[in-house]
Amino acid sequence: MPQGKKVWFITGISRGLGKELARAVLARGDVVVGTSRNGRADLDAGDGELLVLPMDVNNMKQVEAAVERAYSLHWRLDYVVNNAGYGLLGAVEEVSQAQARGVFETNFFGSLNVIRAALPTLRAQRRGHILNVSSVGGFTSIAGAGIYNASKFALEGMSEALALELAPLGVRVTIVEPGAFRTDFLTPDSLQMSSNSIDDYVETSGRMLAHFDQINGKQPGDPAAAAAAILEMVDSPSPPLRLALGGDALERMRRKLRQVEQDLDRWESLSLSTSYETVNS
Ligand SMILES: NC(=O)c1ccc[n+]([C@@H]2O[C@H](COP(=O)([O-])OP(=O)(O)OC[C@H]3O[C@@H](n4cnc5c(N)ncnc54)[C@H](OP(=O)(O)O)[C@@H]3O)[C@@H](O)[C@H]2O)c1
Repeated sequence: MPQGKKVWFITGISRGLGKELARAVLARGDVVVGTSRNGRADLDAGDGELLVLPMDVNNMKQVEAAVERAYSLHWRLDYVVNNAGYGLLGAVEEVSQAQARGVFETNFFGSLNVIRAALPTLRAQRRGHILNVSSVGGFTSIAGAGIYNASKFALEGMSEALALELAPLGVRVTIVEPGAFRTDFLTPDSLQMSSNSIDDYVETSGRMLAHFDQINGKQPGDPAAAAAAILEMVDSPSPPLRLALGGDALERMRRKLRQVEQDLDRWESLSLSTSYETVNS
């Protein structure tokens, strides 16, 4: 492999953000080993090098085989991008247990499967960069998406610890947090709706579902611009733990930080009242 060419392992390159990222990576001449469940992706390798493998992130055997194939072809892994995922809408109570477990299987355990498969190589190399595609919803929840949000919160919680564990070993971790991007995400090809509907949630979850229905196809975020931003971020000498994508994501994340700060300030003395030292003084 010519010096300087980077090897990217990207899940879910058949559509949306993963496809645009793969396209941008290939355009700069890097190598993409990408996956989709049916092993197909309509992409032109251009100046790069492309291998598309069939892989369901929930199938550990397929995950191990795909990561191994990437490594045995190129003898290195530079970027591992956990992009595959899907949305699930409905109030927390409206979502069935099977649906809740299903979205955690793909969005959290699927990413964990890929990370487990890639880590021995990344650790041995003492370099590499894991990008976990979460969501603004992995940082702040909304009515109507609580279980999807929880699956991404889980991904973020794990990623924060992983970043601390891998930093001394030379491996980086970044959580990518997109706002609303114009992909298949909100279409019936990708999105799942809760199996139940309860009238009491019409004004909360119901309103949000109607909003998502309205913005489908009109989301402000451009997936090609997201891909360009991700490339700029990974090229930086000090990439962040979190990268928000889109003004909507920035705004919502800042609002949450302000709310948390306000709660902490307002309840500070009660929070501090719980130590043995304060109780006994
Ligand atoms: N678009 C947004 O507004 C938005 C916002 C926040 C976060 N995100 C996150 O961004 C990521 C990409 O979403 P997108 O917007 O690009 O959606 P998308 O257009 O629906 O594409 C989803 C991709 O994930 C793959 N995938 C889904 N389940 C899979 C599984 N079990 N195993 C392997 N691949 C699987 C799909 O591959 P197949 O061809 O096999 O179905 C497809 O390539 C997701 O993690 C999503 O949660 C998106």
